[in-house]
Amino acid sequence: MKNISGNPYLIRNNGEVLIDSIPLDKIIEKYETPLLIFLEKRIRDNIRTFINIFNEEFENFQCFFSLKANYLPEICRIVCSEGIGAKAVSLPELKLALKLGFSPDKIIVGSPYLPSALIELSIKNKVREIIIYSIKDLKKINIIAQKFNHVQNICIRVNSQKYDSKLGIKFDENKIKLLEKSISTYENIKITSILSHFGTQMNNIEQFEKNIKSLILNLELLLKHDIFFENVNLGGGFPEATVMAQNQLKKIAEMIKISFKKSNLKCPKICFEPGRYFVGDSGLFLSKIVKVSDDRWIFIDIGNHICPKFARCSLRFYNATQIDEPHKYKTSIAGIVPTDQDVLAKNYFFTQDLREEDNVIVTNTGAYCLTFSNRFPYPLPIIILINGDKIKKIFDPNFDKDFSLN
Ligand SMILES: Cc1ncc(COP(=O)(O)O)c(C=O)c1O
Repeated sequence: MKNISGNPYLIRNNGEVLIDSIPLDKIIEKYETPLLIFLEKRIRDNIRTFINIFNEEFENFQCFFSLKANYLPEICRIVCSEGIGAKAVSLPELKLALKLGFSPDKIIVGSPYLPSALIELSIKNKVREIIIYSIKDLKKINIIAQKFNHVQNICIRVNSQKYDSKLGIKFDENKIKLLEKSISTYENIKITSILSHFGTQMNNIEQFEKNIKSLILNLELLLKHDIFFENVNLGGGFPEATVMAQNQLKKIAEMIKISFKKSNLKCPKICFEPGRYFVGDSGLFLSKIVKVSDDRWIFIDIGNHICPKFARCSLRFYNATQIDEPHKYKTSIAGIVPTDQDVLAKNYFFTQDLREEDNVIVTNTGAYCLTFSNRFPYPLPIIILINGDKIKKIFDPNFDKDFSLN
């Protein structure tokens, strides 16, 4: 018995593939490809691993799932049941979080664009925090909070200084003055947290280190002006759990602790808002080869419309029909969108024999695939959730129509 793609819930055994406790053949008998499969146990494992590691280093450690990574209600419900909070970037996401039963004191809301309706619903429901990317937004939030006679906790997103990042506030003397003035003028806001998110798919500790360094510089600068924060939110950016070993996570947690020790700052409460780490490797596509062409190119029945490059997933491809054959022959893999740009992988190690109708498993598609999927006129796939030997259909394009949130 061997894991496929490092995932303990994808097993190959004597030519057979097991998805959790279900033989792949059973799934193939019942469903057409393409099929999107989620593994409930993997989501739960990933969350518990993450929480346990950071809980060991930090008191009152908290996590907010970035709903944008996967906003399927069934997936978010699993996350909610593990006691994790939610990070919403838009009105539909906030409505979803509330509807699914995330407690408002575990919901944080923030994005570069904060429409009044989003602020209003956040305040009405007394969400834990609203995250601002611009000091000017404080005025708008204050007016709405005043209307509801509420003091709204605020998190300030600072620019992580990564390359040319345009997101978040770059503090200089003028901006600090503006913040000081806002704090003293607006009575219905309270600055509680600071957030810095560095990027996605951060595979090495140095990237996390750069983020914490830039954050500490901001904390020190603002402290000189008597502005301090109870909480530090370090964003997300972790790769899929099968890609980032647990000892790496542990090293990141230790590095953060040491960084605060080296500074003169007291370690604040730490939180993250991960997306990909929780759900990325819980999702896989089952697809099939629809065409084999010259020079070892295969076309499979998913493409960038549903498995988009923008999602930055660590895609891995397996010939499920020939699972025990060596995957060591360079093969290029294209999708079905009729453009030469629809390339999923070039020179990927795959089986020697390339046959139409063979099933292909594409792993690590649980985060951002649906988010960045587009409206290219192909039907959306059926989506199922597997838990042990149970299969639950969580999306059927014949009835559910699309992924839009209301
Ligand atoms: C501010 C912020 N927090 C969290 C995330 C989640 O990132 P990831 O899914 O890489 O953990 C993102 C993703 O872009 C983000 O911009």
